[in-house]
Amino acid sequence: MDCPACRCELPPDARFCPSCGSPCTPPGPAGPAEGRKLVTVLFCDLVGSTALSGALDPETLRSVTLRYFELMRRQIEAHGGTLEKFIGDAVMAVFGVPTVREDDARRALAAALGMLDALSGLNTELAATLGVRLDVRIGVNTGQVVAGSDASARQALVAGETVNIAARLEQNAGPGQILIGPDTLRAAGPTVRTESVGPLLLKGKADAVTAHRLLGLGADDPELLRRFDVRFVGRHAELAELDAALARTADGRGAQCLLVHGEAGQGKTRLLREWLERTAPLAAYGTGRCRPYGGQGSLQPLADALRGLLGEALLEGAAEALAVLSTGLLRDGTPNPSVAETCAALIRVLTALAGRRPVVLAIDDCHWAGPLLLDVLDRLAAELGPASVLLICLTRPELLESRPLAATGAIGLSGLSEQEARLLAAELVDVNAHWDGAPAGLLERAGGNPLHLEQLLAVGSETESPGELPPTVQALLGARIDTLEPAERLALDLASVVGREFTAEELAELAQGRDPVRSALPALSHRRLIEPARPAGPARPVFRFTSGLVQEVAYECMSKRARAEVHQRAAGLPSVRAAGDGAVGTHLEQAHRYRSDLGLLDGDTETLRGSAARTLARAGAQAMAGSDLSRAEDLLARAMALGRPGEPAGIPTARRLGEVRIALGRTVQGRSLLTDVLSAPADPVDHAHARLALAVLDPLAGAGRPVEAARAALPVFEAANDQLGQARARLRLAQHHQAHGRHGAADALLTRALSHAASVDGEVERAAALGAIGISLWRGPTPVPAAAVRCQALLAEHGRGRRTVRVTLNCPMAVLLALQDEPAAAREHLAEAGRLARELGYAEAEVFLPVFAALIEVLTDRQNAALELLAGAADAARRLGAGALLDTITLDSARLLLDTGQWAAAENALRPLAAKSGRPHAESVDLDGLRGRLAAAQGQAERAVRLAGCAVAEATLTDSPVVRAQAALDQAHTLRLLGRGGPAAEAAAAARAWFAAKGHQPGVRWVAAFNEEN
Ligand SMILES: Nc1ncnc2c1ncn2[C@@H]1O[C@H](COP(=O)(O)OP(=O)(O)OP(=O)(O)O)[C@@H](O)[C@H]1O
Ligand SMILES: [Mg+2]
Repeated sequence: MDCPACRCELPPDARFCPSCGSPCTPPGPAGPAEGRKLVTVLFCDLVGSTALSGALDPETLRSVTLRYFELMRRQIEAHGGTLEKFIGDAVMAVFGVPTVREDDARRALAAALGMLDALSGLNTELAATLGVRLDVRIGVNTGQVVAGSDASARQALVAGETVNIAARLEQNAGPGQILIGPDTLRAAGPTVRTESVGPLLLKGKADAVTAHRLLGLGADDPELLRRFDVRFVGRHAELAELDAALARTADGRGAQCLLVHGEAGQGKTRLLREWLERTAPLAAYGTGRCRPYGGQGSLQPLADALRGLLGEALLEGAAEALAVLSTGLLRDGTPNPSVAETCAALIRVLTALAGRRPVVLAIDDCHWAGPLLLDVLDRLAAELGPASVLLICLTRPELLESRPLAATGAIGLSGLSEQEARLLAAELVDVNAHWDGAPAGLLERAGGNPLHLEQLLAVGSETESPGELPPTVQALLGARIDTLEPAERLALDLASVVGREFTAEELAELAQGRDPVRSALPALSHRRLIEPARPAGPARPVFRFTSGLVQEVAYECMSKRARAEVHQRAAGLPSVRAAGDGAVGTHLEQAHRYRSDLGLLDGDTETLRGSAARTLARAGAQAMAGSDLSRAEDLLARAMALGRPGEPAGIPTARRLGEVRIALGRTVQGRSLLTDVLSAPADPVDHAHARLALAVLDPLAGAGRPVEAARAALPVFEAANDQLGQARARLRLAQHHQAHGRHGAADALLTRALSHAASVDGEVERAAALGAIGISLWRGPTPVPAAAVRCQALLAEHGRGRRTVRVTLNCPMAVLLALQDEPAAAREHLAEAGRLARELGYAEAEVFLPVFAALIEVLTDRQNAALELLAGAADAARRLGAGALLDTITLDSARLLLDTGQWAAAENALRPLAAKSGRPHAESVDLDGLRGRLAAAQGQAERAVRLAGCAVAEATLTDSPVVRAQAALDQAHTLRLLGRGGPAAEAAAAARAWFAAKGHQPGVRWVAAFNEEN
């Protein structure tokens, strides 16, 4: 047998896979078909029944109670509810069992109001006969429950949060009151009239529940429940088809019957409304609609439509027919005196009406029409003959299967195009509200269905959690899913775990041959729950959910146990494994989550936890190597969350997460994770990484200076053959050389660091090594033209497809270009680096990008702009705790202040730097040179000459022409300030020679300007 997760061969009797640790026991036989559904639960109880029992003879009491129960039952059943049980004098009913309906919440409220009404009728009678009255209180709540398909599983409904809250609401209601829960209110739509009773603390529930007192239900007209006030978009072809149908009727081709079909919410009613408004001058029209329940006559919709037409007309020759209709159809929607006579009368009336101008008769929601109405519509279509009557029947697709209408034409409404949906979304959000133009995920979830889009946006604005599934959509889609055949339902369930797209092979594999899921796909496609995905490969057709919401609701309707099982199996699918550790780990993580939710804390769950954590950690490390910082942080944090405190396996993950968080600028959290790693008993490699990262972050704190940490870490990394570690350690050693101005030595180390990084495709380390090589090319002995050529070559070799590399190399490249007097090209390179750094979320870039930008400004003689940029860089460095860069920024700023004659400010800037010992050469040279100039300005001749001399002498310890030139130029400034023209000119000549040797064009000009000032 093979492991269900990783497919490796298993030893006989193995309980866990020795390779990946997944439990080996094959999933058991499918449990009872158990699913989660959104239902509405109603509790109704008698108030003061004890007093009543005292007042009435027991036999009378029994008869009164039985009548009360009977009245309540009738109301519940008339509205499609299921009587769950009687508990004492209380009645419990569920709306949504056995089958979910889209309007279960409204039905429950209608039933509750009906119960109060019925009771008041009974009370009138009881008051007269027995002198007593009954009072009830009612609680209604909507939410998820688990329900099985068999009768015994219904008992499970009695338990659960949704049911408990309904019962508690009832107990909190006063006599004659109906209290409803928050999701009932949302699911029932905006026409429900309520009064808030505020948050109720219900027994056994930690959080308060916002309860509302029901005052009335309000109408269920679509224009009240939905957003018919929003501007109409698209549907040009459909409007034209309606026009054409009317034209055919009007130009003598006789009566037409047009069917408009589409799923709930696609906009059938709205399309008709829109078209009728536009067409109003050309035709007389009347509309009616069928209802899902309620005691109206079966032809009532036709009667309503006809009434709309009669208002305006004087009918010659139709008086007799009208008289027939007024005894049935127009009285109570029934076919009195007979169907045949009603039809004949209708045809006469419509024909008479159509004599003046064409007539449109539209019946909406025909999927709820009874057989009689459908028969009558068919007869009208067939027998209206030459009359200019256009019958329009609007329906959801289910009618087309169960009872096709004899239509002369049909319009199928599918989703809006992406562009139209985007337009509608913009219309739906308040124009004044913040609209960041990023509803891509939302459009994807709605899949072009205008109602879904509307509901998603409404939830977003009400609850500030745009991800939430609106109960209205859940009810609509849940009702469609609840009617599926078992094999279809299973296929949909399995697919919802795989993802928005899936193949028949994947489902067959997940079903493990239990059910013919493959053959269920055409039916699901026919029901528009899924569709072939484009582009569909002929060999392995790919399907997709018609919208993200369909997938979400299907997933929501699965029991957690089923989700756990399927996720665990999905982790082993070849396609998932090919997608990588992130995909496998996510399935394992979900399987673990649902098993934990169910309290299944056994060995299997524990093993799942371990393999999920390991797989996610591996995926996180890969994302990190690929420089995908935010994905890495997500994966590593999830891996950490699956770990247990003190577990050794968690330490490398914590260390990586710490490193990623520092790179993302979340320094405090990163530092704390790394400190934890250092204090835990861990692998020496993890310790070495943590110490090195902490030393870089806080060079003066406990972890030691970066160079020392790197020296200590390098042998550890070498022994463990840790390539990334070696790259990092050599990088830090090289940076130490750079700080001392030894660029030749640095370059050798960096070249090795680069090959370590490249060998494991560590993008961050590769980019860091390349960026540092670029800095040595700029500051080191290689003349600018040759350095620029090498930098360009490195960009070409390593930069393609690696954004991080393009960030770090473009910065020194920009400097080299500016040194060659190509400022425009320099700025372009810097701009690319900035754009990519922002995309990557690279926090450190907030410091080093402005430093480079300032340098470019200096090289193009825009000192003030440079000063501003450096101030910004200093702020960012302080914010991110990047102390190491602060000194460099301060020195650069002080030089600019001196160059622009701001002596006092320069002195202030340099003051905090003076005390530090062990400063790298390149910095000391700078600092002494600047302090020499300052001393000269203050007339301290001896000190000034000494400092300038120190700078020049220390500069000879570096191999940097730039450092040496700068020291010589600082000395020249100092000497001139002291009035020593001759030696000043000599120092300037030395500076010029170094600038020229480097090919530093701006430097050569600075010396020339200095000489001219003389
Ligand atoms: N083309 C459109 N432009 C703007 N809004 C639209 C458009 N089509 C539909 N809508 C909106 O989407 C919502 C749903 O539309 P409508 O009620 O007409 O759907 P339906 O297909 O009749 O659904 P049902 O089958 O449930 O009756 C309404 O708020 C409507 O205003
Ligand atoms: Mg409609």
